[in-house]
Amino acid sequence: MGTTDSDIVFQSYGRCCNNEQFFVDFYDRFMGSSDEIRALFVDTDMKQQRHLLRNGIMQLVLHARGMSDTKLRALGQSHSRNGYNIRPQWYRLWLDALLNTLRQHDREFSDEVESAWRRAIQPGIELIRDAY
Ligand code: HEM
Repeated sequence: MGTTDSDIVFQSYGRCCNNEQFFVDFYDRFMGSSDEIRALFVDTDMKQQRHLLRNGIMQLVLHARGMSDTKLRALGQSHSRNGYNIRPQWYRLWLDALLNTLRQHDREFSDEVESAWRRAIQPGIELIRDAY
């Protein structure tokens, strides 16, 4: 049995997700990509938010491994126009920030690892985004 995208991604995330600095660097990048995005987090407890995101990315990874989409559907609701009102076009900036932070922190990062991430988490991101 070959190594699947979800195996590559699971291992890549395992090399990064226990380092708090990974999430600090992610949010620095993500907020730096747009003033509108920075403004969404002005009142946010970022220490708490980093823990929530650690889990959120894990949900995307688990979804790629065939887990139920219940948690992602809940994120779709909280991020929708009835919730945080997260515009669909902002998910591209989110993914760019994630991939660039993975490139910075995952010592085994490569074009193959990047492609595996893109393919594996795209359906989960679309599920959240399309709930808008
Ligand atoms: C809250 C994950 C994309 C802005 C959260 C939470 C999680 C999460 C787990 C906390 C739980 C909740 O409140 O429902 C994700 C994932 C994303 C994503 C996995 C990508 C698929 C985005 C994008 C934006 C954004 C693109 C902004 C452009 C926010 C805001 C909050 C939040 C403003 C609430 C912060 C607060 O409580 O003050 N996100 N998110 N998220 N997210 Fe996301």
